[in-house]
Amino acid sequence: MAPSFILLSDSTFSAESYYATQPPPPNLELEVRHVREFVRKHASAGRNVVLVTSGGTTVPLELNVVRFLDNFSAGTRGATSAEYFLKAGYAVIFMHRQFSLQPFSRHYSHSTHPFLDFLEIADGARISVTEKEHAPLLEVLAAYKSAHTAGLLHTLTFVTVNDYLWLLRAVSQELAVMGRRALYYLAAAVSDFFLPRQKMSEHKIQSGKGSLHIEMDQVPKILKPLVSEWTHGQAYIVSFKLETDPSLLIPKARQALARYGHQVVIGNDLHTRKHQVVFVSPTKLEGEYAETWVRIEPSVDATKEIEEDIVAELAQRHQAWIDSSLRS
Ligand code: PMT
Repeated sequence: MAPSFILLSDSTFSAESYYATQPPPPNLELEVRHVREFVRKHASAGRNVVLVTSGGTTVPLELNVVRFLDNFSAGTRGATSAEYFLKAGYAVIFMHRQFSLQPFSRHYSHSTHPFLDFLEIADGARISVTEKEHAPLLEVLAAYKSAHTAGLLHTLTFVTVNDYLWLLRAVSQELAVMGRRALYYLAAAVSDFFLPRQKMSEHKIQSGKGSLHIEMDQVPKILKPLVSEWTHGQAYIVSFKLETDPSLLIPKARQALARYGHQVVIGNDLHTRKHQVVFVSPTKLEGEYAETWVRIEPSVDATKEIEEDIVAELAQRHQAWIDSSLRS
């Protein structure tokens, strides 16, 4: 039976009408200024820059928000990948959902690995780290300190889908100066439907009047302007496709490439995403696509993270993309 509670409207916003009618987040200008400084610094150092988006966006139901729609993403893919991009020599703009996982601190999540559990008090005053945790903490801490001292990691946060869309456009306009040296790694799980501000209730929606019907509009597909307008077709753009029916992964990935004209879609199935993904990319033959599976064996090495192999493959492909423009 169809749910009686949410209706999806036919109305669609183009990217242009979206930005003309939905207000920007209040801190956007300041955020953009910091991104500009970061990009300029690394552009002049000749370093490649990657924008990693991570975590899920929310869709508020009221202007004074009490309720909102959300999704499952914890930000593991994005936070883990950001660390491997730093290792691969990239400067990283990490644009993530507030309170989702972040590079380095992800190793000490309060729910899976709380750091208070491996701290000890000696002589009633000194704090030390348990023997077992010492070496891994030292490694994480050294990488964290080194990334911060060198100014290689810049963090931005979003909560709503509206914050995300405004930030993505603003950051990509700043990254345009990088040309082919910019890589986009769009791992965030972005809502497909939203409530335009003009249709939102100002105050908390009241109960007591029977079932709730909410009509949601489609979020514009911003990959199209991202590829062709904001980055002028220069940046290397990787989007992700999440499905729960594995047979849809490759057809949906191909469809996205045909529609938006970018370089790679990484397909992942909800249940197997931590140990296998598929890279789908266009070939030189019009309308034909190549698939490359990346897999890890957790039973062979439980510490191995698939993001290490994803990032290694992408860094190679991105370099080939940069080199191909130097040859032509
Ligand atoms: O965070 P984890 O728990 O580790 O989970 C990681 C992940 C499964 C969320 C991640 O690997 C992933 O698959 N992210 C993309 C989820 C997805 O399917 O997004 P989508 O179908 O809403 O969008 C597909 C692509 O289109 C995305 O890359 C997105 O940037 C882009 N998009 C989305 C919405 C929109 N309005 N315009 C877009 O261009």
